[in-house]
Amino acid sequence: MEQVSRSNFWFKRIHSFVGIVPLGIFIVFHFIFHSYSQQGPAAYDGRIDWLYSLPLHTAAAIFLVYIPLLYHSIAGTIITLKARPNWPQYPYFGNFKFVIQRLTALGLIAFIIAHLVKARFVELFFHERMSWLHEASALRWDSAHYNPLSFPSYILGIVAVSFHLANGLWTFGITWGITPGPKSQRWSARFSIFLFIALTLLGLYALLGFFRGSLPLGD
Ligand code: HEM
Ligand code: HEM
Repeated sequence: MEQVSRSNFWFKRIHSFVGIVPLGIFIVFHFIFHSYSQQGPAAYDGRIDWLYSLPLHTAAAIFLVYIPLLYHSIAGTIITLKARPNWPQYPYFGNFKFVIQRLTALGLIAFIIAHLVKARFVELFFHERMSWLHEASALRWDSAHYNPLSFPSYILGIVAVSFHLANGLWTFGITWGITPGPKSQRWSARFSIFLFIALTLLGLYALLGFFRGSLPLGD
């Protein structure tokens, strides 16, 4: 019995830890990095080429993003399936956030799979180099390659991950005993609202960069 609860403890602690380090850190840098879209095709493509040319880039992506994400997603799915939500029977804000944390988690699985196929494995699936034009032509209705699902899924993905991470930071503080009392939890709740808004705006800023300027004719 002791053995089971011990492994359950570590199962949840590792899930919680990788949610912030490295996944949360990755998302913040990801939004900042893709804000280069605002500087136009040449600057953005230069940054992407630089990223892919970094030594150990693939190894870093596998160990710092894919493996933690896989662990966090599998553990998160098990946690979600076991959850007994008590909202809307008990309509408290905390119970509402508990439900949204799990709904955004499930939405994120779908978004991340589609996003990796379209944005990360472009060369593998579409035999095309990842570029500003590739993103812009899927997002923009003035393009011949316009994909009507692209813009709405990015909006949902950005809002979902911003909520999930900001609210996750709040529960992380409780999980690790950093914010044990009501006073510290009130402050961390305020910070989490600020983080949710800031991350959403940063993600939207990166996304809207692909709407700047005109597309080359025929694209
Ligand atoms: C502003 C909106 C976004 C843009 C423009 C964008 C663009 C891209 C691009 C071009 C790549 C391939 C190059 C790279 O690794 O950076 C990528 C990879 C990735 N994106 Fe995004 N993304 C956005 C939002 C998101 C969101 C909301 C999530 C998470 C829910 C996410 C998760 C990932 C992951 C996990 C990878 C793979 C990382 C790697 O292999 O290095 N992205 N994204
Ligand atoms: C890059 C994307 C993601 C990031 C940055 C992220 C981050 C976080 C963070 C920081 C927490 C709080 C941990 C705690 O309470 O101590 C969390 C909780 C959670 N995550 Fe994620 N997550 C991501 C994707 C996912 C995905 C795809 C799933 C799939 C099921 C998921 C499922 C969950 C669940 C169920 C919780 C609540 C756990 C609990 O309250 O015990 N997350 N996440």
